[in-house]
Amino acid sequence: MELPPFALDEWLATYNFATPPIAFDLASSTGPGFTVAALTQLGGAGLDIGEIALRYAPPQGALAVRTAVAAFHDADPDWVVMATGASEALSIMLCLVSQPGAHVLIPDPAYPAYAAMAQTLGLKTQAYAVGGTSGFAFSAKAILAAVTADTALVILNTPHNPTSVVMPRTEIDTLAAALAERSIRLLVDEVYHPLYFGAPQRSAAGIANVVVISDLSKAMSLPGLRTGWIIEPDARRRQAMINARSYFTVSGSPVLEHLAAHALVHRQAILDRLQQVAETNLALLAALIDGSAGQLAWTAPQGGTTCFPWFRDGRNSRPFCTAAAAAGVLIAPGDCFGHPSHLRIGFAHQAKGFDEAIRRIAALL
Ligand SMILES: Cc1ncc(COP(=O)(O)O)c(C=O)c1O
Repeated sequence: MELPPFALDEWLATYNFATPPIAFDLASSTGPGFTVAALTQLGGAGLDIGEIALRYAPPQGALAVRTAVAAFHDADPDWVVMATGASEALSIMLCLVSQPGAHVLIPDPAYPAYAAMAQTLGLKTQAYAVGGTSGFAFSAKAILAAVTADTALVILNTPHNPTSVVMPRTEIDTLAAALAERSIRLLVDEVYHPLYFGAPQRSAAGIANVVVISDLSKAMSLPGLRTGWIIEPDARRRQAMINARSYFTVSGSPVLEHLAAHALVHRQAILDRLQQVAETNLALLAALIDGSAGQLAWTAPQGGTTCFPWFRDGRNSRPFCTAAAAAGVLIAPGDCFGHPSHLRIGFAHQAKGFDEAIRRIAALL
């Protein structure tokens, strides 16, 4: 079995792990970063990790971290199964749904691991379009129209990477109920929740027929903790997930679980900083698009950390991204998502210097 090259992560790694790294990272989809010192100081008192025993954690995660995750989603701690990032949560879900002939319905465009991991785990993939030629939007109706007799799982990512569109909670309710009638589960990937630019929205955790995956990497801005989870209210299904996790990674790290619980308890400070950075940078980005003399168009972000503007003349954005990288600004080429005329711009990671990055992009345009 051969996995396709992960073009997006190759692009990010080339510049972010260079010495020195790129000056302005507008390609990553994570929030503004934290050091261990800044994280442990949240809440004031400091966090001592010296006495943590370096043994395995329970496969589903310790009660303390599951309780903190549950509070984040307004869910029950028993529903939570910890994972090594949303990546492992996704792999567990796809592994459990895999059977001969089964299809997974995924968004287009989408986080590239959905299709690659599903196909690697023996599933077939079908895509539903997130909007049309004039912009991006979710539609429960369009998703249901793409369902076939072979569909075993539907993936919804809201707020959505790369387009930043959001499916309102009432529409998620409708979609989940309609899929339940066909015995198809709805997987909601909420890694960009709760970053919204309109009305705040509740997590989809607890909606009947919905399984949620999420993490600390994106809205919570802590990708280095490699912490994710699944929220599954059904005890029998949950047991299968815990069993899968025992095979995949045995357990998480007790040190990381401790830091994760601390971060979640102090989430308001992390989320307030994220919202402030994202909104400040978004205003600068909106001015760039408006001032691009019609070269760029976009769907204005509704939530999450990334947007997916496009060149109106349909040109391939990669040469532009290469030129921007040479000027110190990292933007992800749309071909990493199968849409070459687009650019993925992350506007929540760069807490300082976004204005200078925008000036450099404007000069290139
Ligand atoms: C939509 C989405 N889901 C899941 C992930 C996986 O993230 P992690 O494994 O860091 O939790 C990503 C990472 O980019 C993502 O964009």
